[in-house]
Amino acid sequence: MPGQPQGWEKYYRTHPNTYRSISHEDAYRLHLLFQTDQVDRLLDLGCGDGRHLKYFSQRGYHVHGFDISPIALHSAEDWLLADGLSAEYTCGDMTNLPWSPGFFDAIVSVQVLNHGYHQDIQSAFHETFRVLKPGGWFYLCLQTGPPPDPAKNPSIQIIAPDSYIIVSGDEEIRVPHYCFSEAEILQDLSQFSLETGPYLDKRGKTCLLLRKPRV
Ligand SMILES: C[S@@+](CC[C@H](N)C(=O)[O-])C[C@H]1O[C@@H](n2cnc3c(N)ncnc32)[C@H](O)[C@@H]1O
Repeated sequence: MPGQPQGWEKYYRTHPNTYRSISHEDAYRLHLLFQTDQVDRLLDLGCGDGRHLKYFSQRGYHVHGFDISPIALHSAEDWLLADGLSAEYTCGDMTNLPWSPGFFDAIVSVQVLNHGYHQDIQSAFHETFRVLKPGGWFYLCLQTGPPPDPAKNPSIQIIAPDSYIIVSGDEEIRVPHYCFSEAEILQDLSQFSLETGPYLDKRGKTCLLLRKPRV
């Protein structure tokens, strides 16, 4: 099942506000770019409990948060409301985005698009391409590299080539993780034009800035 919603619900129930640390180090740079390009409608794909919704809402964008976890979305909404901020919140699976083609000026997705089976993530890439306007921006940050070694980490179970789940502990239990190589992610995103990257952020995650070509 794509995204394993129950795994994320359990995670947010037991780890409230985990992802509410400061926003990603690229957020300010993205804001400058989006401001210059007059971005208005912005989708945070896999928004979690809202740190980037808050960041971009505070800066005046019309922000949409999308996530598979209702708990995360409610938490994000409460957090933004407490600061008098607003966003649109939609619960669903990234393999099927409920917007018409070209709806968004920009999409950001931080540490989301390695969660799922490879074919589901590929569907999510097609969906991001579809709902972006021509010339729209797509920023993503995700874990790449080989899967952890189950011999060294018994909580890891390999479920398919380059895919694993975590079977014990309290981290993202039973949520499928797909381990991209940089070459593979570039191949899967080849319908976009590559603006920046791939490069590693301070936490060693791979970041890319892409653009949907103007036809
Ligand atoms: C590691 S958290 C990152 C949250 C947020 N982007 C941030 O940086 O704080 C991954 C998020 O992706 C969401 N997610 C995972 N699979 C998903 C799917 N198939 N569709 C939509 N959201 C999904 C999870 O519910 C979770 O909130």
